[in-house]
Amino acid sequence: MEYRHIKVEAMTPVVGAMVSEVDLGKLTSDDVFAEISDALWQYHVLFFRDQVLPPEAQSRLGNLFGEVTPHEFMRPLDGHPDVHITDHEGDGPSGNAHWHTDVTYRKRPNLVTILQPIELPKLGGDTLWCSTGAAFDALPAPMKSMLLGLSAEHDMPFHMRRLWSGQRGADGGPDAANEAEFKQIRDNPIVVHPAVINHPVTGRLTLFVNSNWTKKFVDMDLDMSDHLLAALFDWVKRPDFQVRFQWEMGSVGIFDNFATQHYAVIDYAPAYRAMQRVIAGSAEPALDLSTVAEGLRPPDWASVRQAAE
Ligand code: SIN
Repeated sequence: MEYRHIKVEAMTPVVGAMVSEVDLGKLTSDDVFAEISDALWQYHVLFFRDQVLPPEAQSRLGNLFGEVTPHEFMRPLDGHPDVHITDHEGDGPSGNAHWHTDVTYRKRPNLVTILQPIELPKLGGDTLWCSTGAAFDALPAPMKSMLLGLSAEHDMPFHMRRLWSGQRGADGGPDAANEAEFKQIRDNPIVVHPAVINHPVTGRLTLFVNSNWTKKFVDMDLDMSDHLLAALFDWVKRPDFQVRFQWEMGSVGIFDNFATQHYAVIDYAPAYRAMQRVIAGSAEPALDLSTVAEGLRPPDWASVRQAAE
């Protein structure tokens, strides 16, 4: 694609681009936004430097991609319920230092996340993204075929307890005896998504299990499911699928949440780091097997079983 209004420079062959010659706080033209969104679907994560993006402008930018929604557990910014803060200080664990796609415990996870720093440590605190389309493409064909026939459970309260174990009741982490935790469980029942989906905009096949929220494959022995998930969680960590970004004040990152996983490095602890985020747009993760090459399509196991009976 040729860009007439913005400058786009790829950062790796698979994921990430630097975008310049645009002021995100003053986007007035549909043509400029169309180029930004085209670049986003192509490169999956876009980085901008030297931006001034107050909360209302960050929210306005998010709304161009779809409805901006509050986050289930990240703290809303005072006076801006649809803008939230994710921060860390001290030596405790961080839920963001795990490869993940945002909020896949929702039936309709958000499509786009917009992230900017509001306080950075002197050194460290980079974020990495990987392309889950590239991760799927690089799998051997028999593995692709198997995964195309699987669905998995995504469970937010289950993983909140796992992430915060050892810190129960501290820093807002859930506690088994805590009414807030029971409410979280009631409000967020398990959802099931296909293990591989078509990207809702581009149609590209993309791996859709992640180490924060995916609990188990449906209809699979739990031990086998744990091993297979662990292998896939490991696979997406390959440097071949990644880009790494060093934040500066004034940087903005916009990422395609359905095409990526991300990991916030916590090498700066115990210093303080705070990021301001909005999540925008949504789609129901889905797989259309008619878009898959015939040789890769998994058998219809229900009919195979019926024929054998
Ligand atoms: C996140 O969305 O997981 C936070 C990313 C970051 O803090 O860099």
